[in-house]
Amino acid sequence: MKIVVVGGCGLIGSKLVATLTHDGHDIVAASRRSGVDAVRGEGLPEVLSGAAVVVDVLNSPSFEDVAVMKFLKTSTHNLLTAEAAAGVKHHVALSVVGVTGGPRGEAPEATDRVVDGARRSGGHVYRKPVATAGARRHLD
Ligand SMILES: NC(=O)c1ccc[n+]([C@@H]2O[C@H](COP(=O)([O-])OP(=O)(O)OC[C@H]3O[C@@H](n4cnc5c(N)ncnc54)[C@H](OP(=O)(O)O)[C@@H]3O)[C@@H](O)[C@H]2O)c1
Repeated sequence: MKIVVVGGCGLIGSKLVATLTHDGHDIVAASRRSGVDAVRGEGLPEVLSGAAVVVDVLNSPSFEDVAVMKFLKTSTHNLLTAEAAAGVKHHVALSVVGVTGGPRGEAPEATDRVVDGARRSGGHVYRKPVATAGARRHLD
């Protein structure tokens, strides 16, 4: 089964790629350094060809409010559009949104918008809260 890990060279992605490869899956790590830019939409049709699953572990280069929202909206839109065209059936996204509630209380609302959008698109949403500190210890 071909699994494309978008952001597969990052902190989380590289660990995920190693684990899935060890488990015997056909893994492609996609990011700008491999010629795939999820914001510009470059390289997506090629890398998604024949994929069964996409795992999105991208990270925004900026956490400024407007920039991070633009990054998440644009990259997610480009990925979902390219996945639909390529016949990819499963999209898994890792996010901390909604885990803690956020300093200004905006995160739960943002989570609800993401979940509503995914369900309207015919998707199934599974939430699995992860303790970041524990996850980081496990990954290290
Ligand atoms: N780190 C943690 O402890 C932690 C904990 C919980 C959740 N998370 C979440 O996990 C996700 C990944 O975090 P991380 O710490 O692994 O991030 P990271 O180390 O910064 O890695 C980000 C990845 O995204 C790629 N990337 C960035 N912009 C891109 C673009 N426009 N197109 C394609 N690829 C792009 C980068 O590679 P290139 O530079 O080659 O493009 C890199 O592979 C984030 O959503 C984060 O919130 C992280």
